[in-house]
Amino acid sequence: MTNPLATNFTGLEFVNPFVLASAPPTESKRKILKAFESGWGGVVTKTIGLHPVENVAGPKTIFQRTSEEKPYVSRSKRPDTVPHSSWNWELISDQPLEQWLPDLEEIKATYPDRMLIASIMAGAGSIEEMNNWKKLATAVVNAGCDAIELNMSCPHMDRKDMGAHIANDEDIIRSVLAAVTSVVDVPIWVKLTPSTSTLADAAGAAYEAGASAISLCNTFPSLPLMDPETMKFEVEVDGYVTSGGQGGLAILNQALQRVSDISRAYPDKAISGIGGIKGWHEAFNFIVQGAGNLQVCTAAMEEKGSGGVGVKLIQELKTDLADYLERKGFASIEEFRGIARERIVEHSQIRRKSEGYNGGYEKSA
Ligand SMILES: Cc1cc2nc3c(=O)[nH]c(=O)nc-3n(C[C@H](O)[C@H](O)[C@H](O)COP(=O)(O)O)c2cc1C
Repeated sequence: MTNPLATNFTGLEFVNPFVLASAPPTESKRKILKAFESGWGGVVTKTIGLHPVENVAGPKTIFQRTSEEKPYVSRSKRPDTVPHSSWNWELISDQPLEQWLPDLEEIKATYPDRMLIASIMAGAGSIEEMNNWKKLATAVVNAGCDAIELNMSCPHMDRKDMGAHIANDEDIIRSVLAAVTSVVDVPIWVKLTPSTSTLADAAGAAYEAGASAISLCNTFPSLPLMDPETMKFEVEVDGYVTSGGQGGLAILNQALQRVSDISRAYPDKAISGIGGIKGWHEAFNFIVQGAGNLQVCTAAMEEKGSGGVGVKLIQELKTDLADYLERKGFASIEEFRGIARERIVEHSQIRRKSEGYNGGYEKSA
């Protein structure tokens, strides 16, 4: 019997389109094995790099909540609240490459039918850094990874040649892709930052340089909130904060807009949709905007009792997708992927009550 949840994305066969995004849920062999046992179709590992990593001397992630009565957003535990978003300033994996490699081998050997994508990150602007991209790519592919995701999107890197800082530079995007594609022959996904006005250009440069997919969105650059009573930030170290990243439901609409921008500019290219997926409704919205693969982070971390890998969440996502396909008579997500594209038009193309509106311009006589 065919599996209606199965999807081919960038040439890889996924048993279902749901993937844990690069983040704490995929930071260790133990968690990834548990994720696969729970049913996730793939994982993107926590980003692996070669440069020194030391996280802040305090909490790395907080979960913000809101409520109907006094609906302020806060991490403080209050009755009758619902999740709003995550905020984090966590750096990439502090587990060295040498330790990751045997773990990746074991994971792939244990779950050969699940897609193992390695997120990697190095710097830019020198031959040494291009060699670092090559070293990382070669090593993870030799360890059995099915694809690579290039992290050009981490919003809180001090180094100006890394993460979101480089995603605005098309030359760097091209040179990193040239380096990586010169040494490996697996699909390359490029994770871009949503925080740029030139996103479609960056995506275009990446596709042209050999990217099989754009993964979008990483967290949105943002600050934590200050508590009016204590006059302290809700997360800080010695009274100080710095820009971090927001994820979870609160970024859903913005993430969809970014995915739509790329999807409409490059309708034939692949997109892995990320940002605020908490259940089937959000996943559906990414698919209709053109995403062929769905990544989840905050919602899996928020799930209590699952060790932060979204055990119940993946069951729900799979059941809800299967129900939906059956109810609507669709053979797979491909039958409705991208249907929202043509319904997104210029503001002036939306009907007005009168006939005469000319997009804010005077009509010429
Ligand atoms: C604590 C935390 C750590 C993260 N670390 C990484 C990372 O190492 N590499 C990466 O590409 N994205 C990282 N992300 C971003 C997520 O992969 C994802 O893009 C983002 O959280 C949006 O998805 P969500 O709304 O489902 O959380 C991290 C997110 C969180 C919350």
